[in-house]
Amino acid sequence: MFSFKDAMRSASESKGTNLVLALDLVDQNPRSLAARSIRITEDVAPYICALKLNRPLILKLCLEEGIKDLLKLAHEHELMTIMDAKLNDVAHTNLATATQYFEAGFDALIASPFVGWEGGLDSTFKEASRRGKGMILLVYMSHKGAAEGYGQDVVDARTGHSRPQFVLFAEKAMTWGADGVVVGATQVDKLSAVRGILQGKVPIYSPGVLVQGGSPKEAVKAGADYLIVGRAIYNSENPKKSARSIRDEATSNHEPT
Ligand code: XMP
Repeated sequence: MFSFKDAMRSASESKGTNLVLALDLVDQNPRSLAARSIRITEDVAPYICALKLNRPLILKLCLEEGIKDLLKLAHEHELMTIMDAKLNDVAHTNLATATQYFEAGFDALIASPFVGWEGGLDSTFKEASRRGKGMILLVYMSHKGAAEGYGQDVVDARTGHSRPQFVLFAEKAMTWGADGVVVGATQVDKLSAVRGILQGKVPIYSPGVLVQGGSPKEAVKAGADYLIVGRAIYNSENPKKSARSIRDEATSNHEPT
């Protein structure tokens, strides 16, 4: 079966872009929110390879209504779709949540490795694999406070040695067969370290460019395969032009995993 990882690579190569649009629009009115979501997705579709949605949009548009239509539109534009669920619960509720996202049409989900494998993410990974869907793991987030969790030194239960949490998470991504990891673009040293562990076997998705301070070019140089970009595109006066120029900057030295 064509895996999510392969489908992302193919979408990225055929469209000539490694940008993932984070469509985090906010509007009190669901109708105008849906209309704006559709307009921006259509405008920037030629310059992105995937659409990433987050819970604020899902809460307002509803999975069974506006979101399904948006996912269908994304697929018509040959975009992969990612739900930024940051799954972080026990197995049965992770599985029930993931199943709803998959059935609505999402191609992949983001999950938090803090919850662990057994009785945590095990059944969701198995279900994703059964359906040909992708699982992407958080490895180092882009905000400052990420240092408190992802950046802390912890004792590796296998060896008894102290190691950075994010390094163990990158190793788990390999062991668990993840289809991607998220590493913030705000700390390029973490991107390079994770790249060194994954050796190109698991692609790196990197949020945190531009508005959060990261540089698209530096992030790609340090190892990011895909860049997740939100406000710098949808809040700009001309989302299409912004997406095109970020795409040009990001792809000038891009070779997807
Ligand atoms: P901006 O507007 O800053 O949006 O370009 C970034 C998008 O990425 C999400 N985000 C993250 N998602 N791990 C994630 O899984 C992260 O470290 C991270 N940092 C930002 C954010 O929710 C938004 O959609």
